[in-house]
Amino acid sequence: MHNQHFSGKIVAITGGARGLGRGLAEALSRAGANVVVGDIDLGAAEALCAGLSAEGRTASAVHVDVTDPASVERLVTEAVTRHGRLDCMINNAGIAAIGEFEHVPAETMRRVIDIDLLGAAYGTLSAYRQMLRQGGGHIVNVASMLALFPNPMSAAYVAAKHGLRGLTRSVMAEGATHGIHFTTVCPGYIATNLFEAGSFAGSIKKHQVLERIPFRLIDVDTAVARTLSAIATRKPIAVFPFYARVLWWIERLSPRLLDAALRLMMKQQRRRFDSVATR
Ligand code: NAI
Repeated sequence: MHNQHFSGKIVAITGGARGLGRGLAEALSRAGANVVVGDIDLGAAEALCAGLSAEGRTASAVHVDVTDPASVERLVTEAVTRHGRLDCMINNAGIAAIGEFEHVPAETMRRVIDIDLLGAAYGTLSAYRQMLRQGGGHIVNVASMLALFPNPMSAAYVAAKHGLRGLTRSVMAEGATHGIHFTTVCPGYIATNLFEAGSFAGSIKKHQVLERIPFRLIDVDTAVARTLSAIATRKPIAVFPFYARVLWWIERLSPRLLDAALRLMMKQQRRRFDSVATR
């Protein structure tokens, strides 16, 4: 749909081996972009790039652990060394941690903040410095609809994503005069590996997570199309699907109303999943 916009562009993606990142890497590469896929799972990133290269696309894989600023810097360096510049940096790597607050180990909270907030911050910093040198570019930070309003059972994740939204908006104001564009992507629930790979605390079990989500999951292709459309049209924020925009609207109109709805939801979920019994 936006092939023309992406054709010949140099794009680096963190967490590009699976889920949304993988979908973005595939779609961008098929639209003619040169993609550099960074992931902590180098084998999966290499397999993806080998498949794309076999189709005649330009894709390369780099081992990246976004908790290490030097590792993220290497992803940007790799893109620039191979292709001479970096047009678009997509900070997408993320993990989820679910459970009632008192059960979540401090180490889990730290890891969520390290990956979901600081990881994206390091990616923003490395890309921003490169884009200052080359005179422009586009930084895309994959947050979540939970960057826009609260959600019980995922306080650290919500905190990280709220932080990422604030960071992105703040740097956006600085970057505007340098030709650097920003997009914060705020999706609702997507059908990926996020929950399977996530950590769980307290009585909640992995298999119960999807039952707790009161919405239909967005398929990866739809999330990819929405994200690429937002990048191509330089939208500062992309919130999807419709229920995410409605919830954001309620949050802005009446945070107290949303707080009351979340309290009610929590009460019902405790009753249903019997998590109170384990306290
Ligand atoms: P996923 O679990 O399918 O993919 C995440 C990718 O990040 C994997 O390839 C994983 O190996 C990589 N990764 C994890 N830790 C890393 C690290 N330290 N360094 C480098 N790579 C690392 O998850 P999904 O859903 O594709 O997540 C992508 C982004 O979308 C995340 O930021 C997530 O928070 C966000 N998101 C996901 C939603 C969902 O419902 N799946 C909803 C809203 C936002």
